[in-house]
Amino acid sequence: MQQRQFKTLLVTGGCGFIGANFIRFVLMGSGFQGQIINVDKLTYAGNPENLSDIVNQYNNRYHFVHADICESSTLENLFQSFHIDAICHFAAESHVDRSIDRPDDFIRTNINGTFTLLELARKFQDQIVLFHHVSTDEVYGSLTTNGFFTEKTPYHPNSPYSASKAASDHLVNAYAHTYNLPITLSNCSNNYGPYQFPEKLIPLIILNALSDKPLPIYGNGKNVRDWLYVLDHCKAIWTIMNHGSCGETYLIGGHNELQNIHVVEKICDVLDDILPKQNNPRRSLIQFVKDRPGHDFRYAIDCSKLNNELNWYPSEDFETGIRKTIQWYMDHPQWVHHVQTGEYKRWIETHYQL
Ligand code: NAD
Ligand code: DAU
Repeated sequence: MQQRQFKTLLVTGGCGFIGANFIRFVLMGSGFQGQIINVDKLTYAGNPENLSDIVNQYNNRYHFVHADICESSTLENLFQSFHIDAICHFAAESHVDRSIDRPDDFIRTNINGTFTLLELARKFQDQIVLFHHVSTDEVYGSLTTNGFFTEKTPYHPNSPYSASKAASDHLVNAYAHTYNLPITLSNCSNNYGPYQFPEKLIPLIILNALSDKPLPIYGNGKNVRDWLYVLDHCKAIWTIMNHGSCGETYLIGGHNELQNIHVVEKICDVLDDILPKQNNPRRSLIQFVKDRPGHDFRYAIDCSKLNNELNWYPSEDFETGIRKTIQWYMDHPQWVHHVQTGEYKRWIETHYQL
């Protein structure tokens, strides 16, 4: 297996959920000895607190730059002054429901922002070893009860979010094809774990259940997602960045397909187990609410390419990962308090009168 060498890694969106977990893993758990430059605009979903321990421990190897990936001139200075030689591109608007309400920022950041980064990578192509683009399985659309997405599945995005991610994937592949830009691309299933903003299903349900609030389930709760613990995703991306073949796409998934209702029931049961409530099991908080428009029915990943070519396998299954995640939210009341107050508002509360 080849091993790529890079010294200065630009991470975009590193103050978000997966980006922050990725930076922590690369600095603390991967053996990487170089520098990381984290460019983040700090939207509602970006939280510098996600990396406060890293700032203190790695102040000579970790640098935070508060900037928008659509602003080319700021980024150009960074490419020059830090001599960036690899990019891991996470920055995006990531919440499907928000994209349905107001797609504007999704088009701007996910498409124009990716385009801006690609243009810079092209301009500095002499120094660029790799541009890794982090994408989603949602670009492939929706599955029925059978089958899996593979790298050969045709694109069929259904929401403004997934359409904007699909556009960004096409741009990345076009830059590889046209300009020989060295790229790798990954499309991953649903992540969960520490530091996820509580607009997404799992942290929303954990926090609502902990404070006796209703647990909203869209439609009949039978939609299926393939859940992957975030650290497994980070390790997969790092494996691809180091060993993946240039120009290739890899699908990443956990083989943990679950209906939403079963995810929510599991969280209720684990919480009842850790923190029992007399005569009032948390499942009684479940409320079925209006379905998401155009709600994709099922996602499921066949990640045999990543297994066979790069020997990556997830370490957590849903049973172990969800217990760790619930415990993390219970152990971090200050983080939870901060993301729920001030400008960090839970989207669901303004959307549904629960
Ligand atoms: P997130 O919403 O938690 O974080 C996004 C980060 O990007 C935030 O820190 C935000 O401030 C930053 N950002 C947004 N717009 C920006 C801009 N214009 N300039 C600079 N920074 C900007 O997202 P996440 O869940 O961590 O997802 C990260 C990436 O992984 C996204 O590209 C997403 O499409 C992809 N992905 C996510 C999942 C998942 O389940 N969360 C699964 C597969 C792929
Ligand atoms: O598949 C990868 C994608 O997973 C990522 O690309 C996205 O960035 C990420 O947000 C996620 O998208 P989903 O739409 O699948 O995630 P979300 O957590 O919003 O919803 C998961 C499922 O739960 C989905 O079927 C909708 C449902 N849901 C969600 C919320 C927030 C509910 O039933 N109730 C809720 O309150």
